[in-house]
Amino acid sequence: MTAPRCDRTPAWQALRAHYEAQGRAFDLRQAFATDRGRFQALGVEAPEVFADLSKNLVDANTLQLLLALARACDLEARRDAMLAGAPTNTTEGRAVLHTALRAPRGQGPHSDEVHGVLDAMLAYAERIRADGRIRHVVNIGIGGSDLGPQMVLPALDEFAHRGLSFHFVSNVDGHDITPVLRGLKHEETLFIVASKTFTTQETMANAHAARDWFLAQGGTDTARHFAASTTNVEAAAAFGITTTFGFWDWVGGRYSLWSAIGLPIAIAIGADNFRALLAGAHAMDRHFASAPLERNLPVLLGLLDVWYRNFHGFTSRSVAPYHQGLKRLPAYLQQLEMESNGKCVDLNGEPLPFGTSPVVWGEPGTNGQHAYFQMLHQGTDVIPVEFIAVKCPAHGLHDLHAKLLANCLAQSQALMLGKTTAQAAAEKAPTASKTLAPETLARHRTFPGNRPSTTLLLDRLTPASLGALIALYEHRVYTSGALWGINSFDQWGVELGKALAGDLLPRLASGDTRGLDGSTAGLMARLEGWHRPA
Ligand code: F6P
Repeated sequence: MTAPRCDRTPAWQALRAHYEAQGRAFDLRQAFATDRGRFQALGVEAPEVFADLSKNLVDANTLQLLLALARACDLEARRDAMLAGAPTNTTEGRAVLHTALRAPRGQGPHSDEVHGVLDAMLAYAERIRADGRIRHVVNIGIGGSDLGPQMVLPALDEFAHRGLSFHFVSNVDGHDITPVLRGLKHEETLFIVASKTFTTQETMANAHAARDWFLAQGGTDTARHFAASTTNVEAAAAFGITTTFGFWDWVGGRYSLWSAIGLPIAIAIGADNFRALLAGAHAMDRHFASAPLERNLPVLLGLLDVWYRNFHGFTSRSVAPYHQGLKRLPAYLQQLEMESNGKCVDLNGEPLPFGTSPVVWGEPGTNGQHAYFQMLHQGTDVIPVEFIAVKCPAHGLHDLHAKLLANCLAQSQALMLGKTTAQAAAEKAPTASKTLAPETLARHRTFPGNRPSTTLLLDRLTPASLGALIALYEHRVYTSGALWGINSFDQWGVELGKALAGDLLPRLASGDTRGLDGSTAGLMARLEGWHRPA
């Protein structure tokens, strides 16, 4: 389906005019002062997630213009085509159907295949949970075959099997696998080789290292101690793995935690909780598919992303989960968003004259407050922040939780309200400077304010709410990518480096630098002797 690219629509020109006339100078403090209903108007309920959009640099007019842009770009028709299985990933000629992985049995495309594998995988997960002799599960995978399970496990720690420990090996750096293996006994360990393609260099190298270790330790029953999650069942069999859970090329790597790639999650939290994770994501899928655009949370978040990136010119967005269990969410979102939308040509291969994916980054609150929040409050760049808060904790330490929530609210408040130089001057300075005049010191203690943020609120962090939250992000990334007219489902940008590494690998052994650029040749010369202990 070809749809107009956002910048070629009259709606884009209308937004540009609106930005120049009012949007650029929009002031959040004024907006709240003049509209007592702003919080209610800009609060959006979606399954398991409430979003406060009121601290964003938009008014009703901005939103109407952004919604008009979505309609001008045929967002709804394109969304429907994707959900129905159209070949949305055009450069690879593939459908994009991660939503089918969480559709109830009998619904959605490929239901029989999906539920056949799901049933088998969950039955296997339950057997491992009940086994008693397996105490360690090592997931070997990288990118989408690592980040999803690695993000979900700490988030759902409350629901995890207490007799099992989970380990993740992803990097081709031997410093990753070495300390993991050091703490293991072969007879207590299950290795899961997770790779959509079963060809990824890092994963294959680590899988071989794990199998060598297993055999060297005296392990014999590889069939019992190795399992695989992959679309390439033949390659897994050739490796010697007989317990294999398959999936399909219409599941992108960064959208695959709902597939067999979720096996470590299923082992950790059990079949019922894994089904609840899928159900939460499915509820968000229904919301995305059917809620009117003006109350459709992933669509609204995607439109805000376009507003900030293309009109305000903000180049990054910070994610601050105020829940330690979500500590890996920013890393997960980096792949989801930046691998999906980090593109510079449109679907027709034409160079784009506007910016696409922002840099997505962050740390859990409150840790980030003591590191980079200084820049968020007083730096020269405006960086929209996404706060994620959970109302009810999974622990009984109420005093700590109250402090956590107070900090979360205070940060978005401080970003918005700021502090004028006059306010700073009127306060008693916390430190008495011997060298600076009081008015100079007050300028250092001034906060510009009017810095935008979104707060996402969950009642509890459960399999269902986490599933909904992740699906929310997936559809939000789709929305901005669709408006930008790019393919959000390929990742050609990772290929060049892979090919060059393939060329350099034998050169590292031979020392042959012929034909290389000066820098690479110079660095190779300095690495000469890398295999001899220093
Ligand atoms: O980094 C590129 C990429 O293809 C990702 O999209 C993917 O998640 C990752 O590599 C791992 O791929 P595989 O699951 O095939 O090993």
